[in-house]
Amino acid sequence: MNEAKKGRRSAAWFSKLDKDGFIHRSWVGRGLPPDVFDGRPIIGICNTWSELTPCNAHFRELADHVKRGVWEAGGLPFEFPVMSTGETSLRPTAMLFRNLVSMDVEESIRGNPIDGVVLLCGCDKTTPSLVMGAASCDAPAIALSGGPMLNGMYRGQPLGSGTDVWRFSEEMRAGRMTSKEFFEAESCMSRSTGVCNVMGTASTMATMIEALGIAFPQNAAIPAVDSRRYAMAHAVGRRIVEMVNQDIRLSKILTRAAFENAIRVNGAVGGSTNAVIHLLAIAGRVGVDVSLDDWDRLGRDVPTIVDLKPSGRFLMEEFYYAGGVPTVMRALDEHGLLHGDAMTVNGRTVTENVSDAPNYNTEVIREFDKPLVASGGIAVLHGNLAPDGAVIKPSAASASLMKHRGRAVVFTSIEDYNARINDPALDVDKDCVLVLQNCGPVGYPGMAEVGNFGLPPKLLKTGVTDMVRISDARMSGTAYGTAVLHVCPEAAVGGPLALVRDGDLIELDVAARRLHLEVDDAELARRRAAWSAPPAPMIGGYVHLYRTHVQQANLGADLDFLRGSRGHAVPRESH
Ligand code: FES
Repeated sequence: MNEAKKGRRSAAWFSKLDKDGFIHRSWVGRGLPPDVFDGRPIIGICNTWSELTPCNAHFRELADHVKRGVWEAGGLPFEFPVMSTGETSLRPTAMLFRNLVSMDVEESIRGNPIDGVVLLCGCDKTTPSLVMGAASCDAPAIALSGGPMLNGMYRGQPLGSGTDVWRFSEEMRAGRMTSKEFFEAESCMSRSTGVCNVMGTASTMATMIEALGIAFPQNAAIPAVDSRRYAMAHAVGRRIVEMVNQDIRLSKILTRAAFENAIRVNGAVGGSTNAVIHLLAIAGRVGVDVSLDDWDRLGRDVPTIVDLKPSGRFLMEEFYYAGGVPTVMRALDEHGLLHGDAMTVNGRTVTENVSDAPNYNTEVIREFDKPLVASGGIAVLHGNLAPDGAVIKPSAASASLMKHRGRAVVFTSIEDYNARINDPALDVDKDCVLVLQNCGPVGYPGMAEVGNFGLPPKLLKTGVTDMVRISDARMSGTAYGTAVLHVCPEAAVGGPLALVRDGDLIELDVAARRLHLEVDDAELARRRAAWSAPPAPMIGGYVHLYRTHVQQANLGADLDFLRGSRGHAVPRESH
C-alpha cells in the first residue's frame, strides 16, 4: 500500500493498515496479487450487459478490452452490473426506469472504492441513465458506446431498424404488403449485436456523448462488430487511468459549451427528439442551465447534413464509412457553429479532434451548403395547448403539414386508441388532427414512445401517408411523421391537452412555433372545472415514487430529488 496515494478516494478502502483495510483488500482481492493494492487507480466498468438487452449483448467482451487498457496503464479494473433497459421488451416503457437506473449507477459508484469509471452505453436509455448517475457523483468518467448493428437486408434492400418496421406495418395495414412478406422481413432486420442501425435514439445518444466530449471521436458510428470498436475500448481503458491521475471529472467536460455543441450536432445529424429530454436531464444533474428554448434557438440555423434514416436514406454503417460524427463536427466547426475550444475526455479540444476529419462520401454526409434539410434541429412549439412547450422534428415530418389547421379526433388513452383506430366508422378524414392524451411521464407512466401512433387504416387504404398527431408521449428515434410530442404540461396532471374534445379546431404553425387550440378561455375553464385526474394505472412500488416525483418533459422528466450533483464523498464507512 502506498501511503502517498491516500488522496485518491479508493485509498479510504485499500490504504488502511487496520482490520477494515484487511477486510476491504482480502474480500475484493480474491485472485489478485496483494501488490495491486499499491494505490493505483481503481477503475469501475459499469456494464449494462443483459441477454434481455440484445443491443448490449457484446458488452462483456467490450469490458474485457477496456480492462486490457486499464491494466496496461497501471490501473486496477473492476466490472460491475447495473440494471439494463432493453428498449423493445421492457414494459410499460424503458423510459420509466431511466431514472431508477441512474440511481443504481450513482450509488454503485459512490458506495464502492472507485476512482474513475467507464460507462458502457448502448440501447436507448442505457446511455442517459449511466451518464446521469455518473454526473451526480462527478467522478472521472468516459462513456463508451457499443456501436450500431450491421445493416438489415431484405430481398436485396437495406433495412433500417424500427424505421422500416413502421413503414412495413403501415404497408400491411393498407393492404400493400402481405403478412408473409412482413414476417419474412422480421428475420432480416437485426443481423448482429449492436444498437438500432438508423439515427434512432441509441445512435443519437451515442452521437450526443461524442459531441458533449465525454466519449472518444468515432464513438457513435463504428459498428458493434467492427474490430475498431474493441480497439477503442482498449484505448478508453488506458485513458480513464490518466484521467484519474489528472483528476478530470465529468463537470470539467459537461459545460454549457458542451451542451450547446451537442444540440447543434443533433440538428446536423437529424437526431432523435428523445435527445431533448435526455440532455435536459443530464444538464440538470451537473447544474448547467439548459432550457427547451435553447434547443429551438441553437438548432434553427443548423442544416441537417447527414442523410440517414429516419430523416433520410442511409444507415449507420454508411455513416461510419463516410467519416462519422467527426466529419459532421468539422463542418459545423468550420462554419462557426461549435465551441471548438471545448475540452473532451481524450485531452484534446473539439477542434483538435475534428479539424482533419475527411468526408469520404458526400451523399451520406452532405456538404454544408447542400443539406438534406436547410433548417434541421428540433422546433419547440408554444401556445395555449402547450404553455410549457412541445417539440416536433421537422426533418422527419411532412413539409405540407408544417402549417395546418384541422378538426381534433381525440383518444383519451392508448387503450382507447387501440380500441377505435381500426373502426371503419371512426369519424376522421385526412385533414383531421389526431390527439392522444395521458401518455406523458405521470400518465402512462414513463412517457411511452407512442407519439407516432399509426393512422386509421381506412385512410391508409386511400393513400394517406401522414397526418398531424399531437400527444404528451415521446416518439421512437427510429420513427417519422408529423408528430407533435412532449406536450407540457401533460394531460394527466391537468394540462390543456386534457381539455381537447372531438371537433375542436387545432392550429399548427411550425414556422411561427405555434400550437393553438381554438377554444375560448371561458369554455376551457368550464372543461377544467369538470376535469378529474385519470386513475393511477399502477399502484405502489417504484411507480409510486416515480409518479410522485417525476418532472415534466420540459425539465427532462427527471425525478425532482435527483437533480444536481451530490459528489462522491461518503461520510461513513461500512464497519
Ligand atoms: Fe436497442 Fe434500438 S432497441 S437500440
